Parts: sequence; structure tokens; C-alpha cells
Amino acid sequence: MIIAPATSNSISKMVTGRCDNLLIATYLSASCPVFFAPAMDLDMYKHPSTSTNINKLIEFGHIELPATSGELASGLVGMGRMCEPEDIFQIVVDYFKFSNSLAGKKILVNAGPTHEKIDPVRFIGNYSSGKMGKAIANTLAERGAKVELVLGPVDTEGLSPKINITSITSAQEMYEACHAIFPSCDSGILAAAVADFTPSEFSNQKIKKGEHDEFQLRMSRTRDVLASLGESKTEKQILVGFALETHDELNHAQKKLDKKNLDFIVLNSMNDAGAGFAKNTNKVTIIEKNGKNHTFDTKSKKEVSKDIVNLLQNYL
Ligand code: CTP
Repeated sequence: MIIAPATSNSISKMVTGRCDNLLIATYLSASCPVFFAPAMDLDMYKHPSTSTNINKLIEFGHIELPATSGELASGLVGMGRMCEPEDIFQIVVDYFKFSNSLAGKKILVNAGPTHEKIDPVRFIGNYSSGKMGKAIANTLAERGAKVELVLGPVDTEGLSPKINITSITSAQEMYEACHAIFPSCDSGILAAAVADFTPSEFSNQKIKKGEHDEFQLRMSRTRDVLASLGESKTEKQILVGFALETHDELNHAQKKLDKKNLDFIVLNSMNDAGAGFAKNTNKVTIIEKNGKNHTFDTKSKKEVSKDIVNLLQNYL
């Protein structure tokens, strides 16, 4: 079933189940896969209640046909234009083509930042929003994989109900959760921004500033989750990592691929516009262990997740 809710009001009716028209009545009783194509004017689309409701529909297990930017019915130009019919056609065809293509596969994904506690009121963290890893987890679930997502301290909004979530806070907890899950998996995609260092001591009481002009914090190395999984992985397991770089990107990513015993690595450069933390788009280069490189254009994180999962499927 494909629904094109042309106002934010129609989206909220789908979420709340306010059954005052035939469309919503049909939707509420549908037991088939439901695709929805939000389309509305600029400001309505931008309103937080619209994105909250879109995330809710994804959480119900429905598939978004994402709106694009362009000319709108009002004459304004911007986000809110309905996904083009030929794109809707392609997404629906791909959905049915791939819907069971990962059935029987169990895949570990990690996402988000970690928080390293200093005292009861402070931590060291990073800007990761977890959006890339969450998009990968959703794409894997749409294709029928059993997905185990180990998620740092970010919200769980917009995640498919089919995903099993383990919430963690620190790098140590990330390490323990991933090691507990990975041995029974066919593959792991490690997209989390795990802290490399953690405070050597945790103060049970709030550290007071007192009369000091300077404060020094001693930090110790955390364990590298990806590298340790690379050491223990079996021949059959496919391991995928990410590399976030600011300079000499390809060289650094290649070194991580080799050192961490990966099958392929997804490189994000902080120098690319449209890539990086908390954005809805990403621009990646994928480097395979056989030496092949694939460079992609800037795309939504959802589209990037499909490129990554398509390649993973070739390996599996
Ligand atoms: N990673 C990990 N555990 C860590 C650090 C990183 O599992 N303690 C993983 C990340 O999830 C990512 C990959 O290693 O998949 C590369 O992370 P990145 O931050 O780019 O590089 P680092 O290995 O931390 O090296 P550097 O900080 O020197 O760039």
C-alpha cells in the first residue's frame, strides 16, 4: 500500500489512528507493507512535529519514500516535494527485490558516540548522532536480516521495530556488548564513534574548581572494539569498519583496513561538504581489501546505507 500524505495533518492522523476518512480507515486495517510519501509545503515539512511523526511511522515498520527539494504546489521552492513517481517505483521494486535477500543472516551494527564519565555531572563525548549506523540497521532489517544494534547514548527514534537494540554508554560497555554478540553473527558493521581515551579515574563526587586556574585530566587508552573483533573473526565472518579522517584520508583508511583485518572500510572525510556528524547526508569512499575503491556522490544517509549493504551482500 502506498500513501502520499499531502499535509502534516494526514501524517499525524496515520500516527494517532484518527480514523475520520476512508484513506486512514484503509491504512489502519492494512496488513501488507505500507510505503508513505510525505509531501507538503516548506514550513509544514520543516516543523518538528512532522519529523517526529515520520520517525514514528518508520518505528511502526512502514517505509518512507523520502520527500525531495524542488518546486512546491504553493510556488515556493524547498524541501517537501513528493518523491518523484519513477523514484517511488524504483524504491518499491527494490524493496520487493531485496526484502528477503538477507533472511537468515544475523548482523551486528554499532552506532552513536560513547560517553566517558569524569564525575557524576561531567563526561567526555563526541558529536556523533548515530544517524549513519541507524540508517544501516534499518536497511538491513528491511532486507530481512536479524539486526543487533549496539547503540551509544542517542535517541532510538526512527528505528525499525524489527531491530534488537542494546543501549550502552561507555567505550568499555561498547566493547563488552559487541564481543558478546559478534561470535553468533555473520557480519559486523561498526559505525560507532568510540572514544579512544577514557579518564583514568572516576571521581564519585563532583570535582570542585576551587582556586585552581588549570585542571589536568589523566586519560587511558580504551580498547579498540573493531580491531579486537578483526583479531577474533572467523574466515566466514564479514567485518566492515568506518574511518573518519581530516587529512591524507585514503592512506589512513587503507592502513585501518589492513591493521583491523577488515573486508572493507567506509571512509568519511571531514573535508567533504555534506559529510560528517549529525548531518542527514554523507559522502563516502569504500575501500575493499582486494584493492577496489568506490567513490560515491553526496547522498542521504539512507541511500549511503543501501550502497554499503549492497556491497556487504556481495560478500555474504
Ligand atoms: N573503533 C572502535 N573502537 C575504538 C576506536 C575506533 O571500534 N576504540 C572503530 C570505529 O567504530 C571505526 C573504526 O574503528 O569503525 C575507525 O575509527 P576512527 O575513529 O576513524 O579511527 P581510530 O581507529 O580511532 O584511529 P585514529 O583516532 O587514530 O584516527
